[in-house]
Amino acid sequence: MITIRPIALKDAEPIAALRRDGRDYLAPWEPDRGEAAFTTAGVRTEIEAAFARADAGIGLTYAIEDDGRVVGQIFLNSIVRGPYFRSCSVGYWVAKAAAGRGVATEAVRLAKGIAFDVLGLHRVQAETLIDNHASQRVLQRNGFEPIGMAPAYLKIAGRWQDHLLFQVLNPEAD
Ligand SMILES: CC(C)(COP(=O)(O)OP(=O)(O)OC[C@H]1O[C@@H](n2cnc3c(N)ncnc32)[C@H](O)[C@@H]1OP(=O)(O)O)[C@@H](O)C(=O)NCCC(=O)NCCS
Repeated sequence: MITIRPIALKDAEPIAALRRDGRDYLAPWEPDRGEAAFTTAGVRTEIEAAFARADAGIGLTYAIEDDGRVVGQIFLNSIVRGPYFRSCSVGYWVAKAAAGRGVATEAVRLAKGIAFDVLGLHRVQAETLIDNHASQRVLQRNGFEPIGMAPAYLKIAGRWQDHLLFQVLNPEAD
């Protein structure tokens, strides 16, 4: 069973190990975070930064679990809860060994539920590289629609790269 839960310091070691195992698989699709991203100490520092974002109310980071075993991460970042803009941006990755079994699709469904039903947001955005067809499929299966192309939007794999933007609207939002 696929579940998501708030990230914890104990996740640093399995996350570093999954990233090392899937290094070549993940590299084309992710920011280049340097060697620290593959060490337990480096991931602990990331998790501490995630705690700070949560305390500030601007970001939530979750471990994705498959029957209680960590298989990836999902993030709700750029959270804005204003009167006229209520939005966040979802990002995710799934370990190579767990990919292709619907893990990301379920994790995005669960995270979207938190964004809409717990945070009360009006929209969730996602950004993918133009040729990240697997990620686009995950989004489309969760009701996201493409809303445009943002040139040089994010620095992925060391280069500022164009991204397709997607969004899904909260049908219950007032
Ligand atoms: C993208 C990613 C999260 C998908 O995770 P996953 O758990 O394998 O995703 P799912 O199994 O839920 O769904 C993947 C879908 O993409 C499809 N897919 C996989 N590779 C594909 C490809 N090369 N072209 C088109 N579709 C592809 C699968 O068939 C599946 O769709 P289907 O169920 O309709 O058949 C994972 O590959 C990953 O972590 N990639 C590296 C990091 C990344 O890209 N993160 C997202 C950044 S926007």
